[in-house]
Amino acid sequence: MPRETLTITDNRTGRTYDLPIDHGTIRATDLDQIRLADGDAGITSYDPGFKNTAACDSRITFLDGDRGILLYRGYPIEQLAEHSTYLETAYLLLDAQLPTTEQLDAWTYNITHHTILHENIKKFMEGFRHDAHPMGMLLSTVGALSSFYPRARDIFDSASRRRQIARLIAKMPTLAAFSYRHSVGLPYAYPDNRLSYTGNFLNMMFRMTELEYKPNPVLERALEVLFILHADHEQNCSTSAMRGVGSSLVDPYAAVAAAVAALYGPLHGGANEQVLHMLQEIGDVRRVPDFIKRVKGGEIRLMGFGHRIYKSYDPRAKIIKRMADQVFAVTGRNPLLDIALELERIALEDDYFVGRKLYPNVDFYSGLIYQAMGFPLRMFPVLFAIPRTVGWLAQWEEMLLDPERKIARPRQIYHGSPRRDYVPLLERS
Ligand code: ACO
Repeated sequence: MPRETLTITDNRTGRTYDLPIDHGTIRATDLDQIRLADGDAGITSYDPGFKNTAACDSRITFLDGDRGILLYRGYPIEQLAEHSTYLETAYLLLDAQLPTTEQLDAWTYNITHHTILHENIKKFMEGFRHDAHPMGMLLSTVGALSSFYPRARDIFDSASRRRQIARLIAKMPTLAAFSYRHSVGLPYAYPDNRLSYTGNFLNMMFRMTELEYKPNPVLERALEVLFILHADHEQNCSTSAMRGVGSSLVDPYAAVAAAVAALYGPLHGGANEQVLHMLQEIGDVRRVPDFIKRVKGGEIRLMGFGHRIYKSYDPRAKIIKRMADQVFAVTGRNPLLDIALELERIALEDDYFVGRKLYPNVDFYSGLIYQAMGFPLRMFPVLFAIPRTVGWLAQWEEMLLDPERKIARPRQIYHGSPRRDYVPLLERS
């Protein structure tokens, strides 16, 4: 069988080149051989925002944006959301297979017994302003963990690597809840090892004076499902930050801090917070058509809509939308839901959105649920960062063990000034 190739003819020289195609991909470095003359710089590819560039070969998450398919290690997201738990899904992402009962018990025990933080972390949390954004606190405190675990630098020691992975998955909810409690002036609530991963997080967020906090099982499960849906999403902005920063071989706490920072932005994990601001600003179903007009005029974006990869309904948004009713049966209906439903109805019929294949993404409905559960808006990106930590770590470990690993270092096209001589200050006009 002849190998699949792409034949390129260089009009400048008349030479032709056969570039091998593997998995529908050519290697950008193969373009380097296309040059005018020996010694000249070869051709490079230009791809702002990496719209059509694969930066790695991965076996973790499959995404088909046209058909709305999302698989973790081959398992459909819908099945995991229905049958799995967050910790089981985390195990799957890291180890590529579903755990046996014994493996799951040992893994759950391991995570549960790493939830406590060093007491000094509380001390530097005290240094933040009372109104510090919890995402800013989370990204700095997770980075600071690096200084508590110097062995974390042994990234090629598999036992050390796995210990840091367990610590990070276990401690993120504690850091997140402590950040929130600081921002509202409440005493920190310590982890309760008798509770599930999400039950314990609700405990650390919301426990007041009761001796034993009992999470509502519907809300505990809803959070579990939301965590499963957010656990990984292949090479998005924050995962690329994790892989890119991790490729310098820094420890995983520093790399996760970089990933949290990337997630903080309003075009990524900050979008669910922006969705709620948008719905509050619209305020009334009758104002939806005017708002859509402003979006179509390019004045603003419809937050929670559109996705780089999904050009159909985000499968995670479908699951969240269905789950909303169960949550609202416990918490009461979020009054902003009607505005969201009307926005979606109009947008899905409008040529602007249909033509650009803009559909609700994971952030469109998740914020409504979080708000109904009692989470303040500023916690929304934090609620994304906690479950995404395992995705970042699975991708980081895959990157470290990849025989083709290289430090991330893209090229540029230079359009700046040509060489010129320095002009002394007083001689400048
Ligand atoms: N509202 C209005 N128009 C939009 C939107 C939107 N939410 N998203 C894209 N468009 C339009 C753009 O204006 C552009 O139109 P044009 O071709 O006339 O210039 C076209 O659709 C393509 O948009 P791009 O920005 O090129 O698409 P890209 O793939 O780069 O961006 C992104 C994807 C950032 C998610 C974008 O859709 C967006 O800003 N959405 C709103 C923010 C959001 O919800 N982010 C969360 C994403 S999910 C996640 O990160 C977990």
